[in-house]
Amino acid sequence: MITALVIGGSSGIGLATAARLHAAGDTVHIAGRDAARLQAAVDEQPGLVPHRLDAADAPALVSLLNELETVDRLVVTLSGNTGAGTFVDLDIDVLRTAFEEKFWPTVTAVKSAVKHLSGHGSITLVGAVTARTGMPGTAGIGSLNAAVEGLVAPLAAELALIRVNAVSPGYVDTPWWNMLPDADRRALFDSVAAGLPTRRIATADDVAQAIVLLATNPSMTGTIVEVDGGAHLTA
Ligand SMILES: NC(=O)c1ccc[n+]([C@@H]2O[C@H](COP(=O)([O-])OP(=O)(O)OC[C@H]3O[C@@H](n4cnc5c(N)ncnc54)[C@H](OP(=O)(O)O)[C@@H]3O)[C@@H](O)[C@H]2O)c1
Repeated sequence: MITALVIGGSSGIGLATAARLHAAGDTVHIAGRDAARLQAAVDEQPGLVPHRLDAADAPALVSLLNELETVDRLVVTLSGNTGAGTFVDLDIDVLRTAFEEKFWPTVTAVKSAVKHLSGHGSITLVGAVTARTGMPGTAGIGSLNAAVEGLVAPLAAELALIRVNAVSPGYVDTPWWNMLPDADRRALFDSVAAGLPTRRIATADDVAQAIVLLATNPSMTGTIVEVDGGAHLTA
């Protein structure tokens, strides 16, 4: 029996990944902070095992991982929504918050999980296209995602035989964008899609497909897969 833990699995890319892993036969645990979101995820994808957890809370992670004992696939898809904006206008405390919301919980989750990962287990993280392109207005959020992606190569070498990889998405239609009113989000997506080689905004499932590949392919480690519609070519 294969056990997967998707931290951030109650929404968007994490939920789509959890659904794919469950369909493939894994026992899939999902973790997130909001109980209603977790319940909605389980209503949508029966069979997922929900856990209310803030990944910034190391003792809570230890307790969950002790309960699970062994994890074969750790997937960390959590994030906040802050850190974007032109560099001169970006409040440094807002950028600190962005790191508190994504980088440190990701590090905490990986550190807590390492000793629970099975010998041939995998860790899959999520960066973003902003880590590797020169888009104006992304120095903050880009450096945050570069920090996440920067974990991949050294951890893949250090934690072997455990494999460590990441995906680097571009624009993905998930609840992450709910801070924008519907009409504004649609207008943004239409205009971005028109400039992408793929002419489309990715779905959560597009990204989940790549995460499942990284989480399951025994020969992939130290790899960051771009799932950005070619945004890295056009930025
Ligand atoms: N959507 C995009 O366009 C896009 C583009 C590039 C990269 N990404 C990256 O893709 C990843 C997934 O994003 P998404 O679009 O799927 O976002 P999403 O739909 O907002 O989902 C984020 C998930 O993370 C959980 N979460 C956040 N903070 C957490 C914490 N401290 N502990 C536990 N769970 C936490 C959320 O649940 P709770 O809030 O209930 O905890 C939710 O389940 C993120 O790393 C994001 O930066 C997204």
